[in-house]
Amino acid sequence: MDFTNGEPKNYQNLKEIINQLDVGVLVNNVAMNHEIPTPFILETDELIQNIVEVNISGLLKVTKIVLPGMLSRNRGLIINVGSFSGMVATPYLSVYSGSKAFMNTWSQALGAELKSKGIVVENVNTYFVVSAMSKVRRPSFLIPLPRPYVKSVLNKIGVPGGASWVPFNSNTYPPHALANWVITNTFPWNFWVNQALGMEMVNDGMKILKLDKMRSPTSFSLEYIASGSTSSEDFKGCLLTHTYPFSPKVTSTPHGSVWKWVLDR
Ligand SMILES: NC(=O)c1ccc[n+]([C@@H]2O[C@H](COP(=O)([O-])OP(=O)(O)OC[C@H]3O[C@@H](n4cnc5c(N)ncnc54)[C@H](OP(=O)(O)O)[C@@H]3O)[C@@H](O)[C@H]2O)c1
Repeated sequence: MDFTNGEPKNYQNLKEIINQLDVGVLVNNVAMNHEIPTPFILETDELIQNIVEVNISGLLKVTKIVLPGMLSRNRGLIINVGSFSGMVATPYLSVYSGSKAFMNTWSQALGAELKSKGIVVENVNTYFVVSAMSKVRRPSFLIPLPRPYVKSVLNKIGVPGGASWVPFNSNTYPPHALANWVITNTFPWNFWVNQALGMEMVNDGMKILKLDKMRSPTSFSLEYIASGSTSSEDFKGCLLTHTYPFSPKVTSTPHGSVWKWVLDR
């Protein structure tokens, strides 16, 4: 089933199948992200619509189909695969980030509604995991392979781990739990949003030409050339500079008119 088209017929078919099953666990894992970090104003209407349709509408519709069976049996587990970008706003992945913030808040409300009915709701607050979506290929201390990550989640259902400050949230993979704890207990939120800003700018598809650390770790400048992507031709060949913690400025680009227009706004 392709969730992007939001076809009522598809959901009706799914409902008929689900009604014949005893579904004990629902994992809301399906999601779409921006293909590369992209300023909201330059993102295509189609991708914005698809992210909303898949990450928000699909989440709500599938849960509403599965929930009546769980309620009738007074038991069930709903795992919503959340993201750190739903906790820390992530510039240039703004629609994805907003959709995961929706998932986080909605999980808390739903969890509170369903707690007395024997149904556990958990927003699994995930940092990076090696996957097609993250485009990270090699595991590291902070970025596990899917299998150990999933094992750690499933072994500790109901344990909040590093996400203990938010109801119906969990973060049990130890390095992610540690990162979660550090984010929520050290610097103010705007610090972490600026960290996310810097990170996304050097992420997928972009080449760092120069990473020049100046004065303190919270002050540095980046220069890079966007190496191009099918989703955002406007980035291709753009030489951008980003002076942390301020917003990006385009210094030269073969697509000057697009960027100039953005900057003039
Ligand atoms: N990897 C990370 O670093 C990371 C971090 C935080 C949160 N997450 C969350 O983890 C979850 C899984 O992501 P992932 O990293 O494992 O990425 P992934 O491998 O790309 O998985 C995304 C899943 O969503 C499905 N999907 C996407 N668009 C769909 C559509 N239009 N219709 C039906 N199914 C669709 C994909 O199906 P196909 O396989 O058929 O394409 C795939 O099973 C997501 O909710 C994501 O937000 C991941």
